[in-house]
Amino acid sequence: MAGNLLYLSDSYQKSVKTKILAVTQKGKQTFVMLEQTVFYPEGGGQPSDQGLIAGSNGKLKVTHCRLVSGNVVHEGMLKGTFTEHEEVTAQIDWTLRFDHMRWHSARHLLHEVVTQAIPGLVPVKGEHGTHAYIEYQGIINPKLKNRLETETNMLVAEDRQFATEFVTIDELKERVAWVPEKLRKNKPLRILTIAGFAPTPDGGTQVKSSGEVGPVRVTAIESAGELTRIYYAIDPLPEPVKKTTRSTENVNTQSMTLNSFRTLLIDIENELFEKISKRAVHELEALQVEYFGSHGQATELIKELRNLPDFERKAAGQLVNEFKSSIQEAFIRRRESQTPVNSQWFDVSLPGIKPPQGHLHIVSQAIMEITEIFSRIGFTRVRHKEVDWDEYAFEKLNMPAHHPARDEWETFFIEQPTTNDQRRTTKKIVLTPHTSNGQVREMEKGKLPIRMINIAKCYRRQSDVSHVPMFHQFEGLYIDYHVSIGNLKGVFDFFVQNFYGEKRKTRLRPYHFQFTEPSFEVDINCGICLGKGCKLCKSGWLELGGAGMVHPNVLKAGKINPDEYNGFAFGWGAERTYMMKSGTQLDDIRLLYNNDLRFLEQF
Ligand code: PHE
Repeated sequence: MAGNLLYLSDSYQKSVKTKILAVTQKGKQTFVMLEQTVFYPEGGGQPSDQGLIAGSNGKLKVTHCRLVSGNVVHEGMLKGTFTEHEEVTAQIDWTLRFDHMRWHSARHLLHEVVTQAIPGLVPVKGEHGTHAYIEYQGIINPKLKNRLETETNMLVAEDRQFATEFVTIDELKERVAWVPEKLRKNKPLRILTIAGFAPTPDGGTQVKSSGEVGPVRVTAIESAGELTRIYYAIDPLPEPVKKTTRSTENVNTQSMTLNSFRTLLIDIENELFEKISKRAVHELEALQVEYFGSHGQATELIKELRNLPDFERKAAGQLVNEFKSSIQEAFIRRRESQTPVNSQWFDVSLPGIKPPQGHLHIVSQAIMEITEIFSRIGFTRVRHKEVDWDEYAFEKLNMPAHHPARDEWETFFIEQPTTNDQRRTTKKIVLTPHTSNGQVREMEKGKLPIRMINIAKCYRRQSDVSHVPMFHQFEGLYIDYHVSIGNLKGVFDFFVQNFYGEKRKTRLRPYHFQFTEPSFEVDINCGICLGKGCKLCKSGWLELGGAGMVHPNVLKAGKINPDEYNGFAFGWGAERTYMMKSGTQLDDIRLLYNNDLRFLEQF
């Protein structure tokens, strides 16, 4: 398919002998289609080629070309005549073409640099004609201008290979990161790979390697709305200077410009890079003298700085500094690569250094596990207030003001806000000393039956080896018809078997709470002796926490008819429950909240 478009497979082919397929005339203009062509038709941001098509009886000065259904239409003024099937020679204006190739390739180099600096940027379009720019979707900081320019010129200096190949649409989609929205259907598909970069779709003419582009300048970065254009320019190539005559004595210093200075510098740099990589380490010293000694090639060129016009001297100085440091680095790298392996090199087989990885606090782990186990038997985790009215923490739990049972909960009271609110005298605010405040709050939601598991922070005015002022409780509440102590026992056994292990079971010991009747303390059989009694547990049983059948007064406070419904409740400390699982005997429970990583990382 690409057979007739020769510029696609060889950008350097300047002419072809071919036959005329069709000729048409419109006014003064003649339009010619050829069997094969070297002429590049305008497109992809690259202007059309110009040149000459010559037959035996006529000459067409081609001023413009377009691609029409896969064929190039050459347009221009015809002198003489053309006939169909006639053999002609088509020849492009090579100076113009080579210039277009350089501008076009420069655009690709700049694009690679831009996408490296700002990954994920989406290109919109690019051109070089009246303006040369690449347009991207997004905002680019104009301060990047110098960096983009320097990096593009580094690619130029590295003389990277440009390789093109034809592909099918599927191959194209698989290999390139970005497929333009509108792929021109009438053009064969081609991809371009600049050595060291990912392939991109491209159908224009390209140089063989980046060195041919010459110095690139990034002239402006301008944003309008969401779009940003990076404008660039390349310098006209200096007159070819033969390697041997490059020595500065032969350079006409009168005509030294920044551009030619830059080109000479890049030449020396490339030459040196190559020599550094090829020379043995003991020869490097001599190489350094050869270039940087008092009459060295590099030294001589640097002396030329003074022949540059004033306004260019500063920029040239900067180039020299960059040149010196990159050469310096190359020397160092070369020397290091020769030093004995064990002193400088590193062992690639050594295991890497793993970054520290955090984990959840043990109490968070416990809460997640407890929630999960109860969810399996239909209990839903809920959250109730951790700062609540005194009435939810006590009064509605059958503990009126001044009731002595309140003393057990070493409660923090919060200073009353100064307001004229009637409730001021009767209502107090507390940091909840237990999660039982959630009982009546859950009942007030008015949904029955209730199967809640309320896990929250609790606060008590205690701090010693076995108490922290802030800890966690999980409160279970089950309200339904005909709930029995048997149900309560069943739920506890289910929990301990799942949480601690199959052989564990619970036992209920009579106790007293104002808000349950009857009330119990729940014990679990010791994990070691399973209840027989051992050195560790003494009695064979360990205490888990409080529980009981919900007191009718509490049901009433929650607007539930105690003649119809009943239920059970339990409230256990999360920290204690969890510590009993790991078998950790904490000398001081406060360690849990001291945030000492040496301690926390053990769990
Ligand atoms: N709230 C009680 C405590 O903090 C525990 C408990 C909860 C007891 C529910 C019975 C029913 O000790």
